[in-house]
Amino acid sequence: MNSDIFDKCFNFVAADKLRSSGFYPYFHRVESEQGPEIIVNGTKKVVVCSNNYLGLANHPKVIEASINAVKKYGTSCTGSRFLNGTNDLHEKVEKKFAKFVGKEESILFTTGHHSNLGSLSCLVGKGEILITDKLDHASIIDGCRLSFGEMVRFRHNDMSDLERQLIKHKGNGMLIVIDGIFSMEGDIANFPEISRLAKKYGAKVFVDEAHSLGVLGVNGRGVGEHFNMEDNVDVLMATASKSLASIGGFIASKSKVIDYIKHSARTIIFTASLPPACVGAIDVALDLIITEPERRRNLMNTASKMKEAFKSMGYNVGHSQSPIIPLTVGSDMVAFKMWRMLFDEGVFASPVVTPAVPEGQSIIRTSYMATHTDAHLNFILEKFEKVGKQLGVIVP
Ligand SMILES: Cc1ncc(COP(=O)(O)O)c(C=O)c1O
Repeated sequence: MNSDIFDKCFNFVAADKLRSSGFYPYFHRVESEQGPEIIVNGTKKVVVCSNNYLGLANHPKVIEASINAVKKYGTSCTGSRFLNGTNDLHEKVEKKFAKFVGKEESILFTTGHHSNLGSLSCLVGKGEILITDKLDHASIIDGCRLSFGEMVRFRHNDMSDLERQLIKHKGNGMLIVIDGIFSMEGDIANFPEISRLAKKYGAKVFVDEAHSLGVLGVNGRGVGEHFNMEDNVDVLMATASKSLASIGGFIASKSKVIDYIKHSARTIIFTASLPPACVGAIDVALDLIITEPERRRNLMNTASKMKEAFKSMGYNVGHSQSPIIPLTVGSDMVAFKMWRMLFDEGVFASPVVTPAVPEGQSIIRTSYMATHTDAHLNFILEKFEKVGKQLGVIVP
């Protein structure tokens, strides 16, 4: 008997079950701008799951720049970067970004995901090796899958396992690909050791600074700056959807590498370019990252305050070293229940469940913004203490 291609859809009941239990945490309709407080289904929530780290997504200057870009260039570039979709604003922010991160050139993709997909798949070809951390972001995995190279993995931040892979594949072209800050765990890649090993075995290093740009380093230039080793980042990727308050993604490197990517990446050639509204926002958000370092300082102070407070309540915060603080809560169902109870108490958080985390180690992933006030933070802590005790995640 022929099977119907839609069988899997009609047999998919996991979301229905969650909906009927009242614990469905996805696709909630936000009815306001994305600040530390948002309106969801008509009620105010304090947000503890945004990537708006520096609080720029609703900054008046960023909004104004976005509007002005639409007024000048219209709503769409109507084609790919490769053909008719490149304008002078794209080129301006590419130059500004490359200068900011100290690279010869950069290229702007339509999303961060596209940056990883397009650059990794064209940089690593047949007979070459992508060496990835097991906890690298899904977009890195997707880029590796699209590449004709071989993808191998090392245990998370485990330098002897990385060295084992480098020894095994020595002599081939090798690219080590890492997240600067890991998106679920909030810990930082051991970049000094990774670059030492890369040099020893002749590999290049690609760093995804999605969560570290604007956040790490005195000037917010990411993991390379944090460790004072910026020249050891061979390819720097950053998304514009987090600290840069927009959407889009940059790849920065030597001019010849960027020129090759520009003429080879499928996600530059076969998709339309980033629209003016988004490019205009990036332009000014980047200026604010440079001129308002106090935002970064506030953010890091908030992150340490929250980490210490959660620890003293008895929460397991893992190895977080950043504004991403995961709280391990137990089974998937505990995470869903906790999400719902927090929501009812006025806190909007994110549950992360299997298969994104191992069985029984589901988390509530919390993340912070420079614009959270002490009142917001105290409210969040009060609610996590109350709900954590009610669920037995922390000792009552
Ligand atoms: C580490 C990392 N890389 C890449 C991306 C993709 O970026 P974007 O959402 O801008 O497409 C994300 C997004 O969550 C991320 O966390």
